[in-house]
Amino acid sequence: MGTVQYRPQTPLFIPLSPSGILHSDMKRRISILGSTGSIGTQTLDVIRDHPDVFEVVGLAGYRNLDLLNQQIEEFRPLLASAGEPNPQLNGDSGCRWSPEYLEGLTEVATLDEADTVVVATVGAAGLVPTLAALRAGKNVALANKEVLVMGGDILMAEARRLNRPIIPIDSEHSAILQCLQGESSHTIEKIVITASGGPFREWDVERIRRANIDEALNHPTWSMGKKITVDSATLLNKGLEVIEAHHLFDIDVDRIEVVIHPQSIIHSMVEFNDGAVIAQMGVPDMKVPIQYALTVPDRLPRRDPTLDLAALRQLTFDQPDFEKFPCLRMAFEACRKGGGYPAVLSVANEVSVDAFLNKRIPFGAISELIEAALEHHKDPSHLDFEAILQIDSQTRTFVNQRLTDKSNLQPSHPG
Ligand SMILES: NC(=O)c1ccc[n+]([C@@H]2O[C@H](COP(=O)([O-])OP(=O)(O)OC[C@H]3O[C@@H](n4cnc5c(N)ncnc54)[C@H](OP(=O)(O)O)[C@@H]3O)[C@@H](O)[C@H]2O)c1
Repeated sequence: MGTVQYRPQTPLFIPLSPSGILHSDMKRRISILGSTGSIGTQTLDVIRDHPDVFEVVGLAGYRNLDLLNQQIEEFRPLLASAGEPNPQLNGDSGCRWSPEYLEGLTEVATLDEADTVVVATVGAAGLVPTLAALRAGKNVALANKEVLVMGGDILMAEARRLNRPIIPIDSEHSAILQCLQGESSHTIEKIVITASGGPFREWDVERIRRANIDEALNHPTWSMGKKITVDSATLLNKGLEVIEAHHLFDIDVDRIEVVIHPQSIIHSMVEFNDGAVIAQMGVPDMKVPIQYALTVPDRLPRRDPTLDLAALRQLTFDQPDFEKFPCLRMAFEACRKGGGYPAVLSVANEVSVDAFLNKRIPFGAISELIEAALEHHKDPSHLDFEAILQIDSQTRTFVNQRLTDKSNLQPSHPG
């Protein structure tokens, strides 16, 4: 019998020489969109750990110019951009500055010298540059999950057509990718995505409704940017990951299951048709999946502590509570409906989370605003990239109108 290979319908793998990246003379040349954020800075940590393997050629930040300028000073990219002018940029850094915001982001995403683009922006910001990076022939290492939630059908079709990989950085999807190595796609029974359960796992519905910002940002196992941390508290983050997995692994949403696993040690699992379940485990540290996304299917040594199972003593699992966490239910429903619904879900969430973080609405109003936006949405007959951008703008307008009309919302909370 010949060897059976996992043949994804989507091009998930970077073509490597048989000896892999470690033995290549060529450095991998990386551009990072969102270099000043949590994933962006950890990507730079990985690159700093392996200067013989990686080289930074492009950096894009947004508002944090001080950090961006420090990164430019240290990594000496060829091109950099941000959301505003950068008068501090030192003329002799050797770095070209792209002065316009969106054009700059796209310029960094399509830079000739880059072979891999890490998309670590947040929300809808990464949508246009990700498509541009694929079309420019880049390997895309994707953290910005909202991009796939909003435009998954179009982006995956484009990745397939161009034979370019979209490699997940999200720890759950990296885990699934690792579980699928050497497997055959037709033997997958289901994908099991683990969730920590967030800070409100054991709270009752009323207390969750009134949760304040500090409580929502107090994630039990991961240290991340503010939006994803709030998304983890509503469990919408897990819902976005379900939709992301549906696109990346070309699997029906009803064959994706979410399991609460508070220790965040098993990052996800795949069950096969013979009943075997393969799980990927490790310390909850995003540097592991970031590094894997940059080397797949090869690996590089880790310098930090690794997993100590005996110290952990136990791993526990539970079912998610769809009543207590309606955002997770809505994400499954939006994925089943398809079309523009996942984009509405994602954009309505983005605007609502921003309103929560600016103390304009209580925590409980986030799910109410998303529900209202989904109910209001009329899906277009044809969904192309323009239609997605239009849904983005219509959903922002709808949610912002709701936010202006305070009578639709509970009073704002104190902190
Ligand atoms: N953090 C994690 O552990 C983790 C894990 C899995 C997946 N993810 C996903 O990765 C993405 C990034 O998360 P994060 O936690 O790294 O977020 P973050 O810390 O908030 O960083 C976001 C980055 O994007 C930039 N940015 C923000 N708004 C932008 C805009 N409108 N246009 C262009 N750039 C913009 C920020 O720049 P400035 O800071 O300069 O303003 C920053 O560099 C999210 O989609 C998240 O869901 C994160």
